[in-house]
Amino acid sequence: MDTILKMCSISKYFGTLVANEDIDFEVKKGEIHSLLGENGAGKSTLMNVLYGLYQPDKGEIFFEDKKLNLKSSKDAIDLGIGMIHQHFMLVPVHTVLENIIMGMGKEKGLVIKEEKLKEEIEGIAAKYGMEISLDTKVSDLSVGEQQRVEIVKALYRGAKLLIMDEPTAVLTPQETEELFITLRKMADTGMSIILITHKLKEVMFVCDRVTVLRDGRVTKTINTKETNELELAKFMIGRELSAMEKDSVCCPGGPVLELKNLSYEMEKGIKGLDNISLKICSGEILGIAGVDGNGQKELAEAIVGLIQGNSGSILLNGEEIKGKSISEIIKRGVGYIPEDRHKRGLILDFSVSENLILKDYYKIPFRKKLLFDFNTINKHADHMIEKYSIKTPCRNSEARKLSGGNQQKIVVAREVDKLPKLLIAVQPTRGVDIGASEFIHQQIIKAKEQGTAVLLISTELSEINLLSDRIAVIYKGSIVGEMDKNDFEESKIGLMMAGAN
Ligand SMILES: Nc1ncnc2c1ncn2[C@@H]1O[C@H](COP(=O)(O)OP(=O)(O)OP(=O)(O)O)[C@@H](O)[C@H]1O
Ligand SMILES: [Mg+2]
Repeated sequence: MDTILKMCSISKYFGTLVANEDIDFEVKKGEIHSLLGENGAGKSTLMNVLYGLYQPDKGEIFFEDKKLNLKSSKDAIDLGIGMIHQHFMLVPVHTVLENIIMGMGKEKGLVIKEEKLKEEIEGIAAKYGMEISLDTKVSDLSVGEQQRVEIVKALYRGAKLLIMDEPTAVLTPQETEELFITLRKMADTGMSIILITHKLKEVMFVCDRVTVLRDGRVTKTINTKETNELELAKFMIGRELSAMEKDSVCCPGGPVLELKNLSYEMEKGIKGLDNISLKICSGEILGIAGVDGNGQKELAEAIVGLIQGNSGSILLNGEEIKGKSISEIIKRGVGYIPEDRHKRGLILDFSVSENLILKDYYKIPFRKKLLFDFNTINKHADHMIEKYSIKTPCRNSEARKLSGGNQQKIVVAREVDKLPKLLIAVQPTRGVDIGASEFIHQQIIKAKEQGTAVLLISTELSEINLLSDRIAVIYKGSIVGEMDKNDFEESKIGLMMAGAN
């Protein structure tokens, strides 16, 4: 097989921090190549260099044997390098067709008839087994469908190499399967795909080769046929993973959270939450499974008081908290790991140590009379950084400068460490590597065993299955099914998540 991409001795520094050091990375024509590594290993940095978003400090890139000198991502796109970010860049009020051709009309220099354009795009989609409806508004599409539009958009722009950053994090098991079929078809026609994922099963299942990064360096490039999940984990973290104690004890106490007929109207006539009733007891984890965007965010935000104006009732330890302010609710012992860590979980311009006390800064021991006690704040930060293995240059670094997974660890550390009465954990391990993910799971279980009631909201069925004592499925704002952990059946839940009851 020919080589399409060769990155040679790439180094990228941020000040004194070494994000990429002397990286050699090669992708062949027609292969699916996984880029694997712990949080902060340097994957996104390397891909941003390849996509023209960062200039490397050292090294050269060859694409189809030509040396590249990328000034921006536009240069990369023009050459046939496409990238699909985890958060899609589509414009919701526009149709699929408008999104796909956006920004291209002028460059093409001619007005093409719409029918012909549609035919061409539908042809591309069909070639790789994707169904696409060009006249639908993007806001009416599911997350999986939006991802398909992103792929078709990249293909229409002539991508020969497609970079995908954690594409399956937001998909149902069925959608993931469909995506993999599409990727395989693309590879069979000679396209190359770089897949970033933290899920080793996916690497083994769909990828031909894998390159593992650790601390900014390549530790291994290997054919997936010649390795296995355990070995890959070892290349990544330099040690073996401990097996998770599966059956953690569940002996629930009294009810901590009770929702009764909770409904919330997002816009006139559009229900975000539809008559939800549920109960979680002390020492119990209730897992809410569902495809992203089916009311999970609204459910969490209604409980913590971030959205108001809902009907029904929310009882915390028997007391109504509906209508109370977020700070009042948090004071009553609610921990909250929000879905969107950038918007809700962190202040990106604040330091790691400030973010670690974001909700307690006014309290003893961090405050002495009117002054901050920096000695205690610093000690606390060092302790948490060590305990939760947060990879940061130092405690005073801005949160913005940490890798995605390490930002997430700050939020989890802060919220779980105080052993709240109720912990609302929305996608607690999204974007977090397997080692850290295992650690976060252990912390959630520990909190539960010490009496915390946990509402776990996740699109990862494996995570729901691993942690939950009971499981409920949310679809279009309603709970469409509830079951005991022992009745867990992935295919059945997957169908419920997709609305096929
Ligand atoms: N703009 C930046 N300024 C300073 N440091 C940065 C910047 N971007 C990334 N870093 C640092 O570079 C290192 C590599 O980060 P990168 O985002 O490439 O990791 P990653 O492998 O993608 O991790 P994750 O799986 O968590 O997304 C990290 O230590 C991070 O803190
Ligand atoms: Mg990353």
